Amino acid sequence: MNIAMGVSGGIAAYKAAELARLLMENGHTVEVVLTHAAQEFIRPLTFAALTGRKVITDLFATGGGDEVLSSAIEHIRVAQDNELLLVAPATADLLAKFAHGLANDFLSTLYLAFRGPVVLAPAMNSNMWQHDATRANLATLASRGHTIVEPGVGHLACGMVGAGRLAEPAQIAAVVQALAHPRRDLDGEVVLITAGPTQEPLDPVRFLSNRSSGKMGYALAEAARARGARVILVSGPVELARLVDVETVSVRTAREMRDAVMARVPEATIIIKAAAVADFHLELVPQQKIKKTPARFSLELSPTPDILAEVGAVRGDRLLIGFAAETQDLVREARRKLETKKCDMVVGNLVGGEGLGFESDENEVVLVTRRGDAIPVARASKRAIADRILDESLKLRLALHGVA
Ligand code: PMT
Repeated sequence: MNIAMGVSGGIAAYKAAELARLLMENGHTVEVVLTHAAQEFIRPLTFAALTGRKVITDLFATGGGDEVLSSAIEHIRVAQDNELLLVAPATADLLAKFAHGLANDFLSTLYLAFRGPVVLAPAMNSNMWQHDATRANLATLASRGHTIVEPGVGHLACGMVGAGRLAEPAQIAAVVQALAHPRRDLDGEVVLITAGPTQEPLDPVRFLSNRSSGKMGYALAEAARARGARVILVSGPVELARLVDVETVSVRTAREMRDAVMARVPEATIIIKAAAVADFHLELVPQQKIKKTPARFSLELSPTPDILAEVGAVRGDRLLIGFAAETQDLVREARRKLETKKCDMVVGNLVGGEGLGFESDENEVVLVTRRGDAIPVARASKRAIADRILDESLKLRLALHGVA
C-alpha cells in the first residue's frame, strides 16, 4: 500500500522513524511529510534514508520556474498517489487544524485533498490531551471515520505522568496493517465484551476496586469491530475514550455489570469476559462517611455475583471466553476456571510482573481451551493479543462445533 505519513512537531517525532521502518518492512511504500515544527525535532534526511524517497518539508519550493509551479500542486499529487494518510505523532495543533479544515501548510492541505482512510496517532501532554478543545476535535475527527490510535499512559517529556504518550510504533503499524488487509471474519457476529474494573462502594466516598485499566477489553472490542462484528462493550469505570461504532454500556458495580451482561446475552454469539470484577462487596453501604476511629476496624464483605459462572449456565452454543488473572499456577487455574464456569477458552493472564497484565499497553497470555490445548502467546501489544484471542476462538469453534 502507498502511505503518506505526516509527522508533526512533538518530542515523539523521533519514534516516527521507527514507524516508517516498520511500515517499509511490512511491504508498504512511505512518502513522508514533515511539518516545520517536526523539523525542529527530527531531520528530513533520517526519513529520506529510511524510505529512499524525497521528504516533503514545505508547501512551496524555494527554487524558481517549473519547480515552484509543480510544488503548488504537489499536495494534490501526494493525495492521489497514496492510499492511506497516517499522522504520527499528531499534536494538539495538528488535530485542531484537521478538525477545522485549516489549510496553511503542506500536511493540512494534503489532508483536505485526500479521500482515503486517515489514521491519527496523537501525542501530547496529558492536560492538553484531556482538554475539552482536544476532546471535541477528536470527536469531530472520529465522526469522519478516521482511526485514532489512542496514546498510552506513562512518563511524558514534560515530566508529568499520564495519558498522552505516542502509541508504540508496532501498535500503530498493526493498525495500518489491519486497514491495509481488513479481515471480515466476524461479519454477522454479535460480540459481548466486558472490560475494566468494578467499584464496590464502602460508603459515599470510598470504594473497593482493582488496577484494571480496561485496555485489554477495549482492545478486544476494537479488534472485533474491525473484523466486522457488532460489538456490545460492558465497561466498568475507565479513563479510555469511547470507541466509535461500539455500543458501550457503562456500569460501576459487579451487580450492575451482571445485570447489563445478562440482559445482552440472548443477542450475543460470542462472549468475552476480560473485566476484573471485584469478588467481594459490602452488602449494606452506610449512607454517611465512615468515621476514623483509633480502634481496629473491620468490615464484613459478601461475595459478588459470579457473572462468568452465571453466563456459563445459560450460554447455549455461544462461544464463551473467560479470563484468569493469576500470580501463580496460571495454566492449572485457567483450566479449573474453564471447567467450573463452562467456558470454551480461558485466557490465562500472569499478573503482578512489570509492564504486563494490569494497566500496561502490552500483555503475554496462555490460551487454555476446552480441547485441552494451552497455547502460549508471546508478549505483544494488547491489540495484537486481542486479534490472536479472536483467531484462536474462531478456530476452536470450528473444531468443536463445525461452525466457521
Ligand atoms: O484492564 P487491563 O488493565 O488492560 O488489564 C487486563 C486484565 C489483567 C484485567 C485482564 O487481562 C484480565 O486478566 N481480566 C480478568 C481479571 C479477573 O478478574 O480475573 P479472575 O481470575 O478474578 O476472574 C476470572 C473470570 O471470571 C474473568 O473472566 C472475570 O471477568 C470473571 N468474573 C470474576 C469475578 C466475578 N465476580 N464475576 C466474573 O464474571
